[in-house]
Amino acid sequence: KNIVILISGRGSNMEAVVRALEAERWPARVAAVISNKPEAKGLDFARSHGIPTAVVANKDYATRAEFDAALQETIDRYAPDLVVLAGFMRILTAPFVEHYAGRMLNIHPSLLPLFPGLGTHQQALDAGEREHGATVHFVTAELDHGPVVAQARVPVLADDTEDSLAARVLVEEHRLYPYAVRLFVQDRLRIDKGEVRILDAAA
Ligand code: GRF
Repeated sequence: KNIVILISGRGSNMEAVVRALEAERWPARVAAVISNKPEAKGLDFARSHGIPTAVVANKDYATRAEFDAALQETIDRYAPDLVVLAGFMRILTAPFVEHYAGRMLNIHPSLLPLFPGLGTHQQALDAGEREHGATVHFVTAELDHGPVVAQARVPVLADDTEDSLAARVLVEEHRLYPYAVRLFVQDRLRIDKGEVRILDAAA
């Protein structure tokens, strides 16, 4: 299976997926890593692992629709079976999302449906949550919604700051995203009435 990963910055989740794929010999390859920011740190890691990279800079496009059209054209050159959003910080238009329906995943640093959008760790602290975490979900037109594939939970500790909580969640993201992507490339995810079913591994 061909995977295209979209990033905007650090790319540590992309790195976790690439490392797992390399170590565990999934029936898949990362066909490209694409960033909307030319300076994204994660591009260096991708290049150093021999993965083709591309930049589609949103600042070069006047409208969201034009940017998404250019992005889609670039992604589709790599004939993806799966598009993985890994810290990709752009809101996507409905036609773009529709084009990748059932084959685009996102990771969001909260226990969705709690805290969609930005600033999730501070929101969890402000709300007095005792548990927080991360969610991998299929992308649908509504931001940070869509069928949930898997979640990871961490405790919120009394002396947590936004940074300490983010760091604890990030460790789990780096396990969760490879797990979810592996299920997809093993063809073990089905969307049934808006919910994800995970099929058993083939015997
Ligand atoms: C992660 O916390 C991800 O959940 C969120 O943005 C962060 C990206 O980190 N959407 P990285 O670029 O994968 O290191």
